[in-house]
Amino acid sequence: MLSDLVAKLEELKRKRNAFIIAHNYQLPEVQDVADFVGDSLEMARKAMETDADVIVVAGVRFMAEVAKVLNPDRVVLHPEPRAGCPLADHMTPEIIKKFRELYPGAPLVTYVNSTLVAKAMSDVVVTSASAVKVVSKLDDDVILFGPDKNLAHFVRKKTGKEIVTVPPWGHCPVHEFLLSPYYLMKAMDEHPGCKLLVHPEAPPESQEMADFVGSTSQMLRAIGELKANCYILGTEEGLSYRAKKLYPDVEVYPPDKRTICIDMKKITLLNIVRSLENMKPKVEVDKGLAEKAREAITRGLELALDKSP
Ligand code: 13P
Ligand code: SF4
Repeated sequence: MLSDLVAKLEELKRKRNAFIIAHNYQLPEVQDVADFVGDSLEMARKAMETDADVIVVAGVRFMAEVAKVLNPDRVVLHPEPRAGCPLADHMTPEIIKKFRELYPGAPLVTYVNSTLVAKAMSDVVVTSASAVKVVSKLDDDVILFGPDKNLAHFVRKKTGKEIVTVPPWGHCPVHEFLLSPYYLMKAMDEHPGCKLLVHPEAPPESQEMADFVGSTSQMLRAIGELKANCYILGTEEGLSYRAKKLYPDVEVYPPDKRTICIDMKKITLLNIVRSLENMKPKVEVDKGLAEKAREAITRGLELALDKSP
């Protein structure tokens, strides 16, 4: 029974002095047991703030790696290490080297949905919530940006800078295909009159259709700000559960119940309980890479917080 797992998990959390950080796309029951649920930027900030002995990351591998990089002396558990992010794998070291040669002097701004080695080769790491602000704060007008071509388009449009996509084809399969204009049209036919919120990993034409474009947590805040009665959340379906919890009186729909990131759904109550029981799988990162990646991640976090004009 799931309720037995929840009870076991609560007991283990106390015993290990553990803190569970979950992403907005996680299964409802995982969101419900988490100590914090948020977007990638908020997850990284929480990972820096907590004084727990053990951090459990309910999300995909790059999220667990960021938590470890920011907490080198703490135990970070990732309950299912096979939960990766196919978008991250588009930006290889070879591709980075090639673009660095083609654009000498241009800074490399890397989306947090990337491998540790890509982060270590970058000047600054951003999330979907911080990308526009961070890029606009850089002095440079030509920016290397990867691996997501659709977020790159969004940043180009908002900042007016020359954004070179590294590589030009990087995409998230969920957003590129299941959040294409066709699926959004279908959802709008099904729920006429709803406002449409879209994640910047969706294609440019989908972004054009939206009333608001932003990160998962920015979409949640937009529900409160736009003051409509009904919303379609143009992103992975897990965000709708969180939205309904935060705004019980508002109608929210995912574009389709099949808009699922299989990697996010690899984290379950059962593998969280087992990881806390056995204190594994622990996230291990190469020290040298982690140090370089930490610099780029910290720079991104600082620029995201920077209040100067
Ligand atoms: P957010 O940082 O907006 O939550 O996005 C993470 C992600 O993986 C989107 O697919
Ligand atoms: Fe990666 Fe896409 Fe899943 Fe987000 S939704 S974790 S970008 S595969």
